[in-house]
Amino acid sequence: MPDAVVRRLDATEAAARCGELAEILLDCVAGGASVSFMADTTPEDARAFWAGVAESVAAGRTILVIAESAEGRLLGTAQVSAAGKPNQPHRGDLAKMLVHRAARGRGLGAALLAAAEREALAAGLWLLVLDTTPGTPADRLYTRGGWVPVGVIPDFALWPQGGLGATKVFYKDLRAG
Ligand SMILES: CC(C)(COP(=O)(O)OP(=O)(O)OC[C@H]1O[C@@H](n2cnc3c(N)ncnc32)[C@H](O)[C@@H]1OP(=O)(O)O)[C@@H](O)C(=O)NCCC(=O)NCCS
Repeated sequence: MPDAVVRRLDATEAAARCGELAEILLDCVAGGASVSFMADTTPEDARAFWAGVAESVAAGRTILVIAESAEGRLLGTAQVSAAGKPNQPHRGDLAKMLVHRAARGRGLGAALLAAAEREALAAGLWLLVLDTTPGTPADRLYTRGGWVPVGVIPDFALWPQGGLGATKVFYKDLRAG
């Protein structure tokens, strides 16, 4: 997407942009995405979540990438968190891949995924794991990106409006290129 920039955010910028990140999260939840939050999530709840992410970025545990318009408007985000276990120094979890509904279908998701993978590999996290709702654009995005499906867990999480939905677990070994 030529008019958008995909880049990494440092902890200071992440903290400063919690409000915008919260708006993206709330838009995705309003659109029915199963991304840990329920439909009654408040802007304060969402900002508190991103404040925690910013702390994790500051602590060096999370890599946060964003997509923004040429004017600097936030359009999407993704993150990789280190597994943080002594026996998994090479592993990370990819999460909160979120693109505002108004900015979808233009390749931002693919660009965020590529950036998150590139930054993770550079940080030594070469084995990534994620889970997502089967049959969604996200499922197709990861499949297109070479992620390996492991299996589907039924009744894994509640939809934002209630009712249980499945999740599909994927991994990707970034050493394979
Ligand atoms: C999953 C998500 C991040 C994808 O973001 P996106 O920016 O729309 O992703 P892309 O644009 O790269 O790809 C989406 C679709 O647009 C298509 N596309 C990409 N660039 C395009 C272009 N220039 N012209 C036309 N179509 C295009 C892709 O082929 C893809 O098609 P498909 O869904 O039919 O397979 C977004 O749908 C989202 O935020 N969903 C809600 C949150 C969520 O569920 N996140 C996953 C949590 S694990």
